[in-house]
Formats: sequence, C-alpha cells, structure tokens
Amino acid sequence: MYLVTVLGNLLIILAIFSDSHLHTPMYFFLSNLSFVDICFTSTMVPKILVNIQAQRKDISYTEFLTQVYFFMFFVGMDNSLLTMMAYDSFMAICHPLNYMIIMNPHFCVFLVLLCWLIIFCSSLLHILLMKRLSFSVGTKISHFFCELAQVLKVASSDTLINNIVLLVATALPCVFSITGILFSYSQIVSSLMKMSSSKSTVISVMYTVVTPMLNPFIYSLRNKDVKGTLGRLLSRAASGP
Ligand SMILES: *[C@@H]1O[C@H](CO)[C@@H](O)[C@H](O)[C@H]1NC(C)=O
Repeated sequence: MYLVTVLGNLLIILAIFSDSHLHTPMYFFLSNLSFVDICFTSTMVPKILVNIQAQRKDISYTEFLTQVYFFMFFVGMDNSLLTMMAYDSFMAICHPLNYMIIMNPHFCVFLVLLCWLIIFCSSLLHILLMKRLSFSVGTKISHFFCELAQVLKVASSDTLINNIVLLVATALPCVFSITGILFSYSQIVSSLMKMSSSKSTVISVMYTVVTPMLNPFIYSLRNKDVKGTLGRLLSRAASGP
C-alpha cells in the first residue's frame, strides 16, 4: 500500500508537470496535494515497516518528536490544500471573469507558501510545548503511530496548557477549512442551478469544464485529464528506447 501510494502520487506529479494543459492552479494544487500525501505517509509507514520487520514496537524520543511534528504539519497542509482547491473552483465558476486575474501564479504560490509558514509555526509551537513535558521510560502509546492527542494522554507532567493550545490550534483551522469548503461548494452548486434554468449553450460548456472540477475523483487517478496524460506518458515510455 505504501509503494502504491508513493508511486501513484509521484505519477500524478509527473503527469501534471509534463503536460502544459495541466498547468493551471487546480492541477498545481493537486500536485501539491500528491506531494504532501507522499510526505504524510512517509512520516509513519516506514517506521511501522521497520518495527514489523524487527518485531519491535519501540520508538526513540527523537523519532517520536519527529513523527508528532510531521504528522501535524502534513495533516495541516492537506486540509489547507483541499480548502485552496475549493476556493479555486469557486473562483473559476462563480467569478469566471476575475478568475485569471485573481488566481494568477504569484497568488497561488503566495497562498501555498503562506499555509506552509503558518502550519510550520503552529506545529513548532506544539513541539516546543511538548518538549517541556516529561515521559517516563517505557511509556506505552496505545496507537500505531505518535499523534499529539494520544501522546499528551501518557505524559507524566501537567498537560493543561498543551491541551488548550491543541484545542485552539486544531479547532481554528478546522472551522476555517470546513467553512471555506462548504461556502465554496454551496456557491458553486447554487450558481450551477441558476445557469441550468437559463438554458444557454454556455451551460454545456460550463458543465464540461466544471464537472471534472466538482468531481471528487479529481483527487485520484480517475480524473480524465490526468489519465489521458498518463496514457500518453506510458505509450511514449513504451515506444521509447
Ligand atoms: C505547488 O503549487 C505551487 C503554486 O501553484 C506551484 O508553483 C508548485 O509548482 C507546486 N509544487 C508541487 C510540488 O506540485
């Protein structure tokens, strides 16, 4: 499963970068999402595999801090990218005239970098707060990887501040992401409904452009454009030297 995840996501990134038709904000966000997904599984699966191979269940303090940090970081990035993709579809469908002006490459890079920065800092704050805690040697975590909420349960010092910061720093981005995604998609649905009642040829054009964007399978290889590009890549590879 790990290999399939890594290879599948690498293939998506390769497809998006190699085909100039896919050089749009949506596909750049999608390739960022694939990249983050690779990093995300890589924070825990290799360690699990090593432990299974060695028939052990232990993790060192440094590995433990690293895992907690990167797990938080990549989950945060995943959520922000999904929100950015929702916002991108919203702009494309509800404000098509302003779309090219607002969602320009600089703004997209800015959005991605801003999210990296904010999530980098908030994850760092959690880790710094966690480093104050003490854990007794041989502490058991009843989970298959180290996640902050689980880790705080087994600390042997007071975790009140950590829990408060965790609650605030988890709740705020979650509320922000969920509101952003719900708002974007509800606006998209309502503007599609309006269009279908006006029955112009624009509808059919919009539907063919919009459907692949709304389709939740854009996050996977079922996407028509990505599949087409992959097909071309594979046939080029097959006919190559
Ligand atoms: C991530 O998105 C930015 C902004 O659209 C883009 O410039 C960059 O190439 C993307 N990076 C990856 C690895 O997909």
